Amino acid sequence: MASLYDPLFRHVFARMDPEAAHEQAFRAIRLGGRAVRPLARVPESPRTVMGVRFPHAFGLAAGFDKNAKAVPGLLALGFGHVEIGTVTARAQPGNPRPRLVRLVEDRAVVNRMGFNNDGAAAVAARLHRLRRTRAGRDAVIGVNIGKTKAVPAEQAVADYVESARLLVPYASYLVVNVSSPNTPGLRDLQATAQLAPILTAVREVTEANHGGRVPLVVKIAPDLADADIDAVADLALALGLDGISATNTTIARPDTLRTPRGEVEAAGAGGLSGPILVTRASEVLTRLRARVGERLALIGVGGVTTPEDVRARLDAGADLVQGYTGFIYEGPAWPARLARAAG
Ligand code: FNR
Repeated sequence: MASLYDPLFRHVFARMDPEAAHEQAFRAIRLGGRAVRPLARVPESPRTVMGVRFPHAFGLAAGFDKNAKAVPGLLALGFGHVEIGTVTARAQPGNPRPRLVRLVEDRAVVNRMGFNNDGAAAVAARLHRLRRTRAGRDAVIGVNIGKTKAVPAEQAVADYVESARLLVPYASYLVVNVSSPNTPGLRDLQATAQLAPILTAVREVTEANHGGRVPLVVKIAPDLADADIDAVADLALALGLDGISATNTTIARPDTLRTPRGEVEAAGAGGLSGPILVTRASEVLTRLRARVGERLALIGVGGVTTPEDVRARLDAGADLVQGYTGFIYEGPAWPARLARAAG
């Protein structure tokens, strides 16, 4: 199927506006979710991480299905789990378009979506319905939450808590996202003085969930200095979190990009993702593993494109591996191909 997707990408999707291409592919996947049988056959090699049973280690990173509209279709393609979101307490439109740009020579993208989403109440209602279906009941669904743009940093705790309260009943695990570059000031919340009260308050919600405690993860940026990575790891341990997800997109524009500099500049501000991230994301993961030992689960994200990348990230200490940008360039056969490496 990869060979079929290649010309489709080059002649159709690559000529479309990237967000329009995303919307069209998304619709197809959502409809595909109504198929009775899985579209891809992936042997299960279940693993229990954070007390949750994952069919295999490879899943879809946050940002693709922000509103939990296509989970069955995505699982049918072979992802073992889907991390939905980022969801914010209030619905918001995100940044003006264009806000998604491809750097094709690097098989990378720059995005400044800005957490466009339906808001926690609407997504909770959708997840509620999904969890009542056969396809939705057993699905492993991570729920990634972020701060509403219009809410000032001083009220960030209450904003995260509101999202957590609404969404936790439907989450296999919950992720506090403080690492997207497209909400002004969001990444400053990674400083432990800001982060501690957010994680403490959200943890109270995940612990108090009626259906049983829900594992809590924090997602960090690859742009943190090593000392700050250690500080977040120590905080996560001190607060009794279950895991860390590393990493989000980068605001860096490395010299090693193949795309001509003018084109990179024209892409504008936002988070860069794709293979260019592999080195730093692996480094962050390795550092985290050394710091926390086996006391926390680690989700390895960033530039994972090939089956070898999956295995390398697992070898570097990841319990779970996720990808997003590879899906854009490699197409619908990609999740199953990587899942087979995630046994
Ligand atoms: C993202 N990513 C992301 N992450 C997150 O925590 N919340 C989000 O809403 C989004 N949104 C989003 C949109 C788009 C268009 C992209 C490409 C990415 C980041 C994503 O989950 C992942 O951490 C990075 O993209 C790195 O992995 P890949 O893409 O290199 O596999």
